[in-house]
Amino acid sequence: MIKIAVLVSGNGSNLQALIDAHLSGKIVGVISNKPDAFALQRAQHANIDTAVIEHKQYPNREAFDAAMHQQLLAWDVDLVVLAGFMRILSAEFVQAWEGKMLNIHPSLLPNYKGMHTHQRVLNTGDTLHGCTVHYVTAELDAGQALTQGVLKVDLHDTVDSLAERVHVLEHLIYPQAVEWICNGTLQHIATGQVLYKGQALTRPIQFANFNI
Ligand code: GRF
Repeated sequence: MIKIAVLVSGNGSNLQALIDAHLSGKIVGVISNKPDAFALQRAQHANIDTAVIEHKQYPNREAFDAAMHQQLLAWDVDLVVLAGFMRILSAEFVQAWEGKMLNIHPSLLPNYKGMHTHQRVLNTGDTLHGCTVHYVTAELDAGQALTQGVLKVDLHDTVDSLAERVHVLEHLIYPQAVEWICNGTLQHIATGQVLYKGQALTRPIQFANFNI
């Protein structure tokens, strides 16, 4: 069985979506860099082991990442799922977990890497928006995209309404992508290639029929 660790910093609604999708049996631990993250309560409520590793207590990023790495090894983790984890990871850490670490980003990557994605979508006047599950690589928000949830931007949308609607999409596509990795539908192979049902994945699987 694949053992999953989820890294969080805040509310943890994506962690909750994974738990609600019956993946909690596979989640061996949740790490938070913030002791007051609500995500920790969600994990405890689901009887999942938690660890608080505060970045402030380490002299530099490498030392903080090394502490997380040790915890992941102690839990014998196969897959690391970033769910609102608000720290940039060192190159060493990313390399150690390459092909085994996922993130979800609130835009249709490669559009709008980085912050303030909803505002930027509104500024540009895009008609489509959404979220992307991708592998984590050293370059921010640039690893191979696996799945995307797509919605139509409404004339009346604001940053807040888009944030809310994109979150609903996230809660659908993140558990799906994790499930596909657990059951082998998605595979990261030694060459670095990603396979979907045994075939090379050339673009993310898109879910665009949500009534959101
Ligand atoms: C999500 O919007 C995700 O796209 C981003 O961080 C947010 C986490 O939200 N990476 P939550 O803590 O899971 O509610």
